[in-house]
Amino acid sequence: MKNILVTGGCGFIGSNFIRYILEDTDFEGKIVNIDSLTYAGNIESLIDIAEKYKGRYIFKRVDICDKEALETVFTDEKIDTICHFAAESHVDRSIVAPDDFIQTNIIGTYNLLNLAKTHQDELELFHHVSTDEVFGSLGAEGFFTETTRYKPNSPYSASKASSDHLVRAYNKTYKLPVTVSNCSNNYGPYQFPEKLIPLMILNALEGKSLPIYGDGKNVRDWLYVRDHCVAIWEIMKNGKRGETYNVGGNNEMQNIVVVETICDILDGIKGLSGSDSCKNLMTYVKDRPGHDQRYAIDFSKIKNELGWMPQESFESGIEKTVKWYLDNSTWIERIRSGEYLKWIKNQYE
Ligand code: NAD
Ligand code: TYD
Repeated sequence: MKNILVTGGCGFIGSNFIRYILEDTDFEGKIVNIDSLTYAGNIESLIDIAEKYKGRYIFKRVDICDKEALETVFTDEKIDTICHFAAESHVDRSIVAPDDFIQTNIIGTYNLLNLAKTHQDELELFHHVSTDEVFGSLGAEGFFTETTRYKPNSPYSASKASSDHLVRAYNKTYKLPVTVSNCSNNYGPYQFPEKLIPLMILNALEGKSLPIYGDGKNVRDWLYVRDHCVAIWEIMKNGKRGETYNVGGNNEMQNIVVVETICDILDGIKGLSGSDSCKNLMTYVKDRPGHDQRYAIDFSKIKNELGWMPQESFESGIEKTVKWYLDNSTWIERIRSGEYLKWIKNQYE
């Protein structure tokens, strides 16, 4: 792997992945980040990396639905590996407006697979980043394994399931060298504040209400983003081609417990107590339609085959995350005010 094409590298996990690869691994090659810079893409998340790794980090504003632009990047940059993060990723948005999810997550992935197939002789690996949400919802018992049947419930998870099937088909039919990872809910630095954890941190800091969907007893497994990045890199280096790997954080929690934990940390830091606790901001709101009850991951395959384990407990990971949001007020302000989009407009339009 010398020249890696990362798609969606200006998003939450993609930007953490690029940072991890360049800063903390022995990778000596080049990363080409292509991202169309939707509302969720923030080029500023890698501004220091772009400066520090000139020549080894290249950004190009490309939509994965644009086949010609994909071909140009692949050829010009002599790509040999693809790591595919780009997606519309928020379930609530997919319920209101599924079109972009179908375009980017299904058609975009299909375009990338065709690109990879056209250049199969030069291609070492196509790694596809997916989600545990493709498996649907669990009851009180059990875990998702790599052989759990796909039963997606939201337009988001259905679009991701569709992309997973295409990746599988290109491996089985055309022998494309692929690996797939299906992981649980990520959290950590640089996450767009529409997802549960950053939204609750920022709302609490601003004294806004903390909306809890339904009874707040839905369970998610929380995976610290850096642990996820380590897992992806391990799969890319040593994972069996044609295989899928489940990646989990070993941190199953009800949503209310997650929000209460954030409140406890903020109360401690800000010195608030009693009736001023952030918990007073928790507000139960109408449930999300088709809200999956519980996700939980059995990650014994990646543990046994590749020796990967999550390193972060929820307690340590959430402390680091809250601290990151407290320490990065400029990044937050530019997102909250929409300034980050204006900067992009000036640069690229
Ligand atoms: P994100 O929404 O933060 O980032 C997505 C990135 O993709 C953005 O930078 C956006 O600009 C870019 N993008 C969107 N449409 C594009 C297009 N047509 N062409 C090029 N770029 C485009 O998402 P994330 O949370 O970083 O998720 C990354 C991947 O991981 C996704 O495939 C997602 O399904 C998967 N995943 C995420 C989680 C999670 O908890 N965040 C969990 C499991 C799996
Ligand atoms: P989210 O971060 O959107 O991730 P996903 O839907 O992909 O799991 O939501 C995590 C959980 O938190 C999910 O059960 C929905 C719930 N939730 C709330 O209760 N309130 C909120 O404002 C948000 C965004 C999510």
